Amino acid sequence: MIYMMRIDVISAVPDLLLSPLQNSIIQRAQNKKKVEIVIHNLRDYAFDKHKQIDDKPFAGGAGMLLKPEPFFECIEKLQSERKYDHIVFTTPMGKLYDQHYAKKLSLAGNILIITGHYKGIDDRVRSTFATDEISIGNYVLSGGELLALIIIDSVVRLIPGVLNDSESALNDSFIDGHEIEAPYYTRPEKYKGGDVPEVLLSGNEKLIKEWKSRESERLTEIWKKNNNLE
Ligand code: ADE
Repeated sequence: MIYMMRIDVISAVPDLLLSPLQNSIIQRAQNKKKVEIVIHNLRDYAFDKHKQIDDKPFAGGAGMLLKPEPFFECIEKLQSERKYDHIVFTTPMGKLYDQHYAKKLSLAGNILIITGHYKGIDDRVRSTFATDEISIGNYVLSGGELLALIIIDSVVRLIPGVLNDSESALNDSFIDGHEIEAPYYTRPEKYKGGDVPEVLLSGNEKLIKEWKSRESERLTEIWKKNNNLE
């Protein structure tokens, strides 16, 4: 059986990526051959004898910059093996990551994610290879690895057959025009003074549906307010 999707990630700190890819739904998706995720350690592509991957920026500035050569070596090798639908470059300057873009990526066959660390990456890597420049939000992380994981998580769960019926992505908040789902409760019915809303215990499907729809609208309004939308 062939994989439905392949995701390559290049990182200077590949250990940061391990645990989230080896657990839960992403691990299961790989076992089911829905996605093949391959991590590339930038240091493996450094050709000098010290395996140096960073250097001081020209014209000064604080911190070290990731050198271009190991990225070029790695990306050119990968490109000689397959064509990438998206080469995603993680940068605070990029377009904000959202569910629409996740859906677009979920239709791809091959995705390559380039992550920076430390002060960033020599800009020739971005200008030569990036097809998509993506940011996780208007704040600065110490590297792009966490965003790569967020992209992988949100994309892999959209691949057909990854989630089972009860987990189905079709019910998700955000799936159609940014609707927030009604809250969920489980046992116990009463806990520390908080009771599960009566209607959810009533067994009356019509009333439950109406309640969920009202709650969904109410929470969507709160979400819009919290995010200064409309
Ligand atoms: N690298 C550092 N900060 C980042 C951000 N906010 N988004 C994407 N990549 C980053």
